[in-house]
Amino acid sequence: MSAALLGREPEHTLAWWRDAVVYQVYVRSFGDANGDGIGDLAGVRERLPYLAALGVDALWFNPWYPSPLADAGYDITDYRSIDPVIGTLSEAERLIAEARELGMRTIVDIVPNHVSSQHPWFRDALASPPGSAARERFWFRPGAGAMGELPPNGWQSIFGGSAWSRAGDGEWYLHLFAPEQPDLNWEHPDVWAEHEGILRFWFERGVAGVRIDSAALLVKDPRLSEERPDAEPGDHPFVDRDQLHEIYRRWRAIADGCDEPRVLIGEVWLPDADRFARYLRPDELHTAFNFDFLACPWEPGPMRASIQSALSAHAPVDAPATWVLSNHDVTRPVTRYGRADTSFAFESKRVGTPTDLNRGRRRARAAALLAMALPGSMYIYQGEELGLPEVEDIPPDRRQDPMWLRSGGVDPGRDGCRVPLPWSGDKPPYGFSPNEQAELWLEQPTDWSPLSVAAQSADPGSMLSLYRTGLHVRREAPWGSGAELRWLPYGEQVIAFARGDRFACIVNFGREPVELPRDAMPLVASSELRGSSLPQDTTVWLYLSTNRATFEPEPNRTDNHNENDRGEGR
Ligand code: NOJ
Ligand code: CA
Repeated sequence: MSAALLGREPEHTLAWWRDAVVYQVYVRSFGDANGDGIGDLAGVRERLPYLAALGVDALWFNPWYPSPLADAGYDITDYRSIDPVIGTLSEAERLIAEARELGMRTIVDIVPNHVSSQHPWFRDALASPPGSAARERFWFRPGAGAMGELPPNGWQSIFGGSAWSRAGDGEWYLHLFAPEQPDLNWEHPDVWAEHEGILRFWFERGVAGVRIDSAALLVKDPRLSEERPDAEPGDHPFVDRDQLHEIYRRWRAIADGCDEPRVLIGEVWLPDADRFARYLRPDELHTAFNFDFLACPWEPGPMRASIQSALSAHAPVDAPATWVLSNHDVTRPVTRYGRADTSFAFESKRVGTPTDLNRGRRRARAAALLAMALPGSMYIYQGEELGLPEVEDIPPDRRQDPMWLRSGGVDPGRDGCRVPLPWSGDKPPYGFSPNEQAELWLEQPTDWSPLSVAAQSADPGSMLSLYRTGLHVRREAPWGSGAELRWLPYGEQVIAFARGDRFACIVNFGREPVELPRDAMPLVASSELRGSSLPQDTTVWLYLSTNRATFEPEPNRTDNHNENDRGEGR
């Protein structure tokens, strides 16, 4: 019987996530409708046509739940409602439905590793004595030292300092992030049941999938063994432990049991590509963020290797790779790629590094077209399509990120990539808020007028126009059904590949221009081509106008590799 007769969508529409473009909405900085200077759900609803016109398939919302905001909403007090500052549950339901009418699915952020210290479970635990059942849902332990005055072990918080804090009665509790984010005990059945209920709750409200925060950290070694530098993969006391897979198998069964199957997307930071791929086995997560590509320096060798390694690791588990250039945790690409050393995505590593934003913008454009051409799904973090730079001069008293606070101001933290978007006009709030006098939760720079959506919409050469064009051409799938990528021999300073018979993507990292094949027609280029040659830090998409030609380099004219090995190159 056909899929249509069964009342189900055909298989290829069910697998929409395999090549989806997912746009990450950081609600507090997207658009403010009620004029209090904080982005809200009404602000997103008003701007849904912008997102639909951009050409994205799904929206991922950072946590939108009630939260004391010790970590920008990743400290949740109630997983089944909406932070009243940004909206209501019924508004979220309307938003989900409206987005779907415009062709965009919704993904919500689920935070299973920890709750807010204001969550009823943790309040209950603190109000209960050591050894009580309420404390079993967390990691409470007596301290070390003669008086229990030392943390139970040496585990460090990802935000800096010990991963343990002391409760009033002297017991210690574990928090891999801030002290306001106590870790849940995934050995406890309540924790399993609660999260299964949360998944069902949001699936019933029409969300198409969940992004799972800190997905590789949930399970801890109950012996609290110390971290060992020589540990085998899977033998770390709190990263990538084997029991995690049982949790995700259970979640997958819930997701697959829905009328329209739902998607599980893991935030999995693991250096080992094969360990990473284990989360993507057919009965576990559907996809996971590819942070290796995000963190890769703007250099052809490492980038080619990163792409190849992602594709090779995903193939055996039949999962699509994902391509991510930015998110709310890392330095904006325009700034990152504008630095002399592009090898780190994290602010803490790059304090005070000189930055050439023009070069960064050019490379970010080239990177965007590269990412859009790769097989798999792609993530765009709001403002990336506007080419916003990292805001580096936020006054200390306005910074919010616990990374800044916990490092005593040494690490500038992640506020610089979370600044409210500029929509129109020539001064803050640039149409972000209807209230011209509103004090925004994070200040916008005063030179963002040319970066606003309105300004860029009018300019065919803008970053926004490039994203719009690239995404629209991508929708047409110029590679046909060819998911496979074939590397083309263009030398070491170039990343070049074909997909299907007629499509190729060529990125030139080197100083020497690359001669393009004569029979190929450029579809989109990230910067202007010089006649038939591709300049440095530029990506082009090519379409073969006849099926006789190939994408091979022009003979004798493209030995870019040798030219560049001599000089300073890029
Ligand atoms: C990853 C999130 O992306 C980040 O913003 C957050 O601080 C940590 N997980 C803790 O939830
Ligand atoms: Ca608001």
